[in-house]
Amino acid sequence: MIRTIDQLEEYETMISIKNLHKRFGDLEVLKGIDLDVQKGQAIVVIGPSGSGKTTFLRCINILETPSAGTVTIDGQTADFSKPMPKKQITSFRKQSAMVFQHYNLFPHMTALENVMEGPITVQGRKKDVAKKQALELLAKVGLAEKADEYPFQLSGGQQQRVGIARALALEPKVMLFDEPTSALDPELVGEVLQVMKDLAAEGMTMVVVTHEMRFAKGVADEVLFMDGGVIVERGTPEEVFNSPKEARTQRFLNLISEKEEI
Ligand SMILES: Nc1ncnc2c1ncn2[C@@H]1O[C@H](COP(=O)(O)OP(=O)(O)OP(=O)(O)O)[C@@H](O)[C@H]1O
Ligand SMILES: [Mg+2]
Repeated sequence: MIRTIDQLEEYETMISIKNLHKRFGDLEVLKGIDLDVQKGQAIVVIGPSGSGKTTFLRCINILETPSAGTVTIDGQTADFSKPMPKKQITSFRKQSAMVFQHYNLFPHMTALENVMEGPITVQGRKKDVAKKQALELLAKVGLAEKADEYPFQLSGGQQQRVGIARALALEPKVMLFDEPTSALDPELVGEVLQVMKDLAAEGMTMVVVTHEMRFAKGVADEVLFMDGGVIVERGTPEEVFNSPKEARTQRFLNLISEKEEI
């Protein structure tokens, strides 16, 4: 997104990640990641399969416990050099919400009930308050008329938009998206990307793993290329896509441009 100088002066750090490591047994998947994300920025992460993108997102949300390093969100720091009390993990996790490749909606609940569930069970909201908020969120993702439908009655794109509304219902400061459109039929990708684009325009801080080049070019403030558990290269979408500096980035972009037109 293009911002004015005035807006730049208002920048504050939302996410600060220092020396993040994650190993699964002998396999070191994240090998020291450093990243600062300013409030309202949208960061796109690209990289080959197995490079650690999903693990990285899961570590920000402590769905995986990092082996070392720190993650700070809006001033609250999780330091993984020592064990964290469960209460602190719960409080830290509330700051971000994740949208997965497979939307995992509860099949026995309507779209509305899916969106209301988190606020009621996690945040202890009253039912009528949660319902009002859920209806607003469904309207925001363009699904006001589908509130009473069950997941099987919705298209993949609609289900993913319910998934986004469900994540937003937890009022996160940061949204983490893990390839949210890669399981969708091509004609359904656009409607989900549009919802994400609107969120970015509203100033939501987002870290998005996606290979959707048009989204990255149109929305990302910065693109990170990850490979082998490190950030190999980062820059504006123009810098990374049009003039990548690293051979590994060039090779990866060549591979994906064979699959889709960039
Ligand atoms: N729970 C786990 N236990 C053991 N190894 C894991 C676990 N989760 C991920 N890994 C390994 O960590 C590496 C990185 O996986 P990750 O899912 O983060 O990659 P990715 O970049 O998201 O790949 P993709 O593009 O295919 O989604 C892989 O080698 C994977 O096998
Ligand atoms: Mg992944």
